[in-house]
Amino acid sequence: MKTALPKQGRPTAEVLAELKGFGADDPNYRQGRLWSLVYYLDEDYADFLGAAYREFSSANGLNPTAFKSLKRFENEIIAGVAEMFHGTPEVCGVVTSGGTESCLLAVKTYRDLARTRGVTRPEMVLPVTAHVAWFKASEYFGVKVRLLPLDPDLRADVSKLPRLINRNTVMILGSAPEYPHGTIDPIEAFSEIAQKRNIPLHVDACVGGFILPFMAMNGRKLPLWDYRVPGVTSISADVHKYGFASKGASTITYRNLDYLKHQMFVYQDWPGGVFASPALLGTRPGGAYAAAWAAMQHFGTSGYRDLAKRTTQAFDKMRKAIEKMPELYVMGQPSGPLLGYGSCDPEVNIFAVGDQMDAKGWTINRLQNPDGLHAMITAGHLPVVDDYLRDLRQAVATVKAHPELAKAGSAATYGLMSHIPLRGMVHQRVLDMFAQMYKAGGQELDLHAPAAPEPGLKGQINAMVDRLAQWYVERQQQRAQRRASR
Ligand SMILES: Cc1ncc(COP(=O)(O)O)c(C=O)c1O
Repeated sequence: MKTALPKQGRPTAEVLAELKGFGADDPNYRQGRLWSLVYYLDEDYADFLGAAYREFSSANGLNPTAFKSLKRFENEIIAGVAEMFHGTPEVCGVVTSGGTESCLLAVKTYRDLARTRGVTRPEMVLPVTAHVAWFKASEYFGVKVRLLPLDPDLRADVSKLPRLINRNTVMILGSAPEYPHGTIDPIEAFSEIAQKRNIPLHVDACVGGFILPFMAMNGRKLPLWDYRVPGVTSISADVHKYGFASKGASTITYRNLDYLKHQMFVYQDWPGGVFASPALLGTRPGGAYAAAWAAMQHFGTSGYRDLAKRTTQAFDKMRKAIEKMPELYVMGQPSGPLLGYGSCDPEVNIFAVGDQMDAKGWTINRLQNPDGLHAMITAGHLPVVDDYLRDLRQAVATVKAHPELAKAGSAATYGLMSHIPLRGMVHQRVLDMFAQMYKAGGQELDLHAPAAPEPGLKGQINAMVDRLAQWYVERQQQRAQRRASR
């Protein structure tokens, strides 16, 4: 067995050849089989991004005055975003490493802003559908979440917003669109309330930022969500999603510097020198900024409009076809590019449908509350939508004909996991399993050494999570076998 650090160094060509092999069991995103995580066009475009990244891969944006190149990339990226979002010249912002960093920063900013008016027990209002990054921010920065429920159509219920606000509220969040169902939150209605109560309103456009403006330019009717809405004080938008940049590039912009100042960190007494940092990271990856800039320059408005057009075609096709299937329904009011769908037929278990789709070589995320399947649709999916829909129809028919499938595969476990009421226990077991994956040298879950069986409900929950983990590993193995036999 190889050790992680070889005793003797190896030739670069040998290392690169082995490294390529690492991808063999990864999801097949190049053929559009993966419906999350990746924004891929083709190998030529990947090479272009790689070349841009490589040019600045050693450059460090830690100190914005050292690499003028990186500050220029940042300035131009932020200027582009400000214009896309109809900001005034007062709009300012920072390039970050990803959507999560942008979301974390917004929470830190508004917590610290509220401190200046004496708020010591900060709270924020998040719709139930807010991305999980916001819950992470709550934990990291000690800002309590007040959850805004959904209405029966799975839209954030704005009528319930006023009563969730109090003198400790440091910010309100809306998403454009939210991740689970792809619905754009009612930002204008949020804005009215936020302005009346003088509370900052952040829009999470991590997904939508680089596609909604171009869908609108292409003629799609969308609700307003950007700086044209007067109460919106900041927006996060990821270049590494629908901007088709390399991973590691997002933006956070604010309506003006009075907000942004609270994001910044300055320490003037460090023996290492006076220190100022605009975001969470210390060293900031020059390659990611160069690739993000390159992507924006390459596509420009015309290119992003074209990508948006192809994405919209794929989205509309999927949405219409799923709406026509009597067993399924589309969740919420998605305008694209995200779609969640569930089963409205008691004989069709949607997780079993997911299992069937997995078996046909698709990689699809699961949703809960309510149960469903998810699709993050990109231009790269347009050529495979028909295949996907054909397989989906077959999958539904198979599950309907074989109700016992609901009790097999991941379906049984997912179903139980999402419905079991003792969430604290589920949390603990997931945490235990997850932590195991991070043992030095440990590559996979150590399923041969499960926790000692415990009696009662706790034991049952633990066993259930273990089963789910087991299923994940088996799925990986099956995928690898399928690849090998091709
Ligand atoms: C709405 C929304 N916000 C934030 C994020 C977090 O982005 P990242 O995965 O780049 O950290 C995501 C990721 O999918 C998202 O969908």
